[in-house]
Amino acid sequence: MSSACSFLFIPSTGYSSTVLSFELLLCFLLFVAVFAFWLRPGGLAWALSKAQTRPGAAIPGPSGFPLLGLALSFTSSLTHRLLSRLSESFKAESLMAFSVGFTRFIISSNPETAKEILNSSAFADRPVKESAYGLLFHRAMGFAPYGEYWRNLRRISATHLFSPKRIASFGDFRREIGVKMVEEIMLKMEKNCEVEVKNVFHYGSLNNVMMSVFGKCYDFSGGNGDDGLELEGLVKEGYELLAIFNWSDHFPLLGWLDLQGVRRRSKKLVAKVNAFVGKIIEEKRLKRAENGRLEVAGDQHSHDFVDVLLDLENENRLSDSDMIAVLWEMIFRGTDTVAILLEWILARMILHPEIQAKAQAEIDSVIGTNKASG
Ligand code: HEM
Repeated sequence: MSSACSFLFIPSTGYSSTVLSFELLLCFLLFVAVFAFWLRPGGLAWALSKAQTRPGAAIPGPSGFPLLGLALSFTSSLTHRLLSRLSESFKAESLMAFSVGFTRFIISSNPETAKEILNSSAFADRPVKESAYGLLFHRAMGFAPYGEYWRNLRRISATHLFSPKRIASFGDFRREIGVKMVEEIMLKMEKNCEVEVKNVFHYGSLNNVMMSVFGKCYDFSGGNGDDGLELEGLVKEGYELLAIFNWSDHFPLLGWLDLQGVRRRSKKLVAKVNAFVGKIIEEKRLKRAENGRLEVAGDQHSHDFVDVLLDLENENRLSDSDMIAVLWEMIFRGTDTVAILLEWILARMILHPEIQAKAQAEIDSVIGTNKASG
């Protein structure tokens, strides 16, 4: 009889009961060992990685549920509050470790530490989510591995997109967007007596990015052809896909099932993005060929970020798909971030009327009262 069968048929001899108690003891010890492993600070993924690290140097943090770690916290819409409370209770505001399945996480609720993390090249690499990979972001700055390609993209963007001169050159356009947003808010208030400011901000920030990156301006109310609305749809779908908590990212065995349809949807979206951004690049190439690549003197806007990338193409540095990935990332990074920040500022001002009054007084002192800026 195999040893496994001895669990099923419990003989009554003294010898067998000794074997049984030995096996029970072994099971108990195994159970305790596995739980001790899981219960290490930060949970399973950290315990697995700590096999090689120094004992005693563990970052504090909850172990969460066995195998799941803190996965269930990510199914709530207030994950940030939950994590903040946890970091307080673990006295881990500076750094807190936790696991979600086999993925190691680290968070900081301390601005100084967060700043250090964001500025450190040690954190430049990050695991690429399935949706980010599917949407080409592994070839763009945010998810490209730390190395020559990434450094090159950083340098190009810092010089040609985020330089103070370049940002100042779009000042008039930003002012125009600001005026349009105020008009839109006034119109909606007159019509409905309420306004969802996020939509207005979204319109403004998307247009801001499209102008500085593509040299294009869209009418998102749909009055000027369908391109603007199509772009809005692509961006919305992309945000939805990136925001989904995808179980396959943290439990590799689930990967091939694509239970949440993230891979399928990303594939469909990326085909549309390739067509949309690819068309803009092609149009630009044609225009450059017609103009003999001459920049109109004094018109900064005629040489947008697509031009910069096309110039580099001649040095054989970026392929078409690299270019699409980089441009696509800019649209993404530059839209929701700005819209959410503006909405957040408004919410904070409503909660703190004294700050609102101070901002109002500052505006009044510059443009006078009862005047729309223009
Ligand atoms: C208020 C607005 C913004 C906020 C709060 C913000 C915040 C951040 C943060 C925290 C990061 C680093 C974390 C990460 O890599 O995920 C980041 C990276 C990045 N942001 Fe922004 N961002 C804003 C606007 C923009 C705009 C307008 C653009 C482009 C037009 C942009 C493009 C990028 C890019 C390309 C990266 C990746 C940099 C890299 O990995 O080296 N961001 N942003």
